Amino acid sequence: MARITASVYTSHVPAIGAAIDLGKTQEDYWQPLFKGYEYSKQWMKDNKPDVIFLVYNDHATAFSLDLIPTFAIGTAAEYQPADEGWGPRPVPVVKGHPQLASHIAQSVIQQDFDLTIVNKMAVDHGLTVPLSLMCGQPEAWPCPVIPFAVNVVQYPVPSGQRCYNLGKAIRKAVESYDEDLNVHIWGTGGMSHQLQGARAGLINREWDNAWLDKLITDPDAAAATPHIDYVREAGSEGIELVMWLIARGAMADIADKQHPISVKHRFYHVPASNTAVGHVILEN
Ligand code: DHB
Ligand code: FE
Repeated sequence: MARITASVYTSHVPAIGAAIDLGKTQEDYWQPLFKGYEYSKQWMKDNKPDVIFLVYNDHATAFSLDLIPTFAIGTAAEYQPADEGWGPRPVPVVKGHPQLASHIAQSVIQQDFDLTIVNKMAVDHGLTVPLSLMCGQPEAWPCPVIPFAVNVVQYPVPSGQRCYNLGKAIRKAVESYDEDLNVHIWGTGGMSHQLQGARAGLINREWDNAWLDKLITDPDAAAATPHIDYVREAGSEGIELVMWLIARGAMADIADKQHPISVKHRFYHVPASNTAVGHVILEN
């Protein structure tokens, strides 16, 4: 059967993608950020998954205000990098896994989560920047990816608790798939940042790190964080962090305390564009 063996959490700042694409990773501003991902790139090579289930948010690229799915699962065979205004990033096409994605859709919908099924979409920096951070600049991404888009852009957005519960359902779905597949689940976006309004530029190191502690050791408490706390403490775009709870909810220790997780890597860095970058790798 398929298994979720690890989860990865990372911010997705678009300027990080531009720094990689334009060969700026060794510049003074960026070098400390990319140093924090050296371990991660090696870890990806040593622990290559068969499939990545990648939770991210679309930034009005594939979905506009015309259509706003709360949770959307990609069931396509491939996804083109989106043109976000400066042309599509020069990164490989993202290959999907239609069979596993369809199975997860079937199982999770039967577990009472309403997913939108997406057979065609372009993927923006929310998905491609985490892949670049973890995999570098390969000719092709190391494995198929199932994109899972969460609406954290237009209110009302789903609660952290609902995201966490959805993660539990995704774990069950993966474990009921017949083929032996090693699946990683990634939660992306965050940490504190606000891109507009009077508080633009807001960063909250103390709150971010306390939330990371909770995510790792007391995820029930992290899941109980109300919306307004994210917005007040981590800024309007800090709400992207609810997506990390989908990945956390899918880890083995949540379903069964007999299976503790281990923290392989933890990293936090400011500044990166307007965002506090957080990054964690957990293994089952
Ligand atoms: C930035 C961060 C984001 O998460 C995003 O979607 C766009 C911009 C930033 O820090 O500039
Ligand atoms: Fe974002």
